[in-house]
Amino acid sequence: MTPNTVTNFYSHDHDELDAYFKNFQDTKMQDAKKAKEYFGKFKHGLERHIEWEESILFPLFEEKTGMKDQGPTAVMRHEHTQIKQYLQAIHENILKDDFNTYQEEDSLLETLQAHNQKEEGILYPAIDRIASEEEQNLIFIQMNLKN
Ligand SMILES: [Fe+2]
Ligand SMILES: [Fe+2]
Repeated sequence: MTPNTVTNFYSHDHDELDAYFKNFQDTKMQDAKKAKEYFGKFKHGLERHIEWEESILFPLFEEKTGMKDQGPTAVMRHEHTQIKQYLQAIHENILKDDFNTYQEEDSLLETLQAHNQKEEGILYPAIDRIASEEEQNLIFIQMNLKN
């Protein structure tokens, strides 16, 4: 396996998740079944992504910097809670075949885009800088165990 950085891997994962969400939005008026599949992939992937961040990446950053309750990861954790609320609201609606979720979709996208920008621009590069090569490798090993 080629060595990967946190910034590269997680930014790519953001892009992949964005594409699932866009596919969901693009298909929901034509093909409900397909739209549900896309949303399912998005939801599952985003929840896994958040779980990796909260259980592996953020604790490493917090341990290395000593910034926990006041630092950037506290803000990111708070935003995850909001993101998951929008995700759940859309999920519950489309379970009932109600695709009129535009407001929740807009809120989700707005929050997620700003969130991802902060992670890609600040937090991930910081983690790449402060983690040793061994710690970087350990991140990906731990992620595979949680896959
Ligand atoms: Fe995040
Ligand atoms: Fe992220």
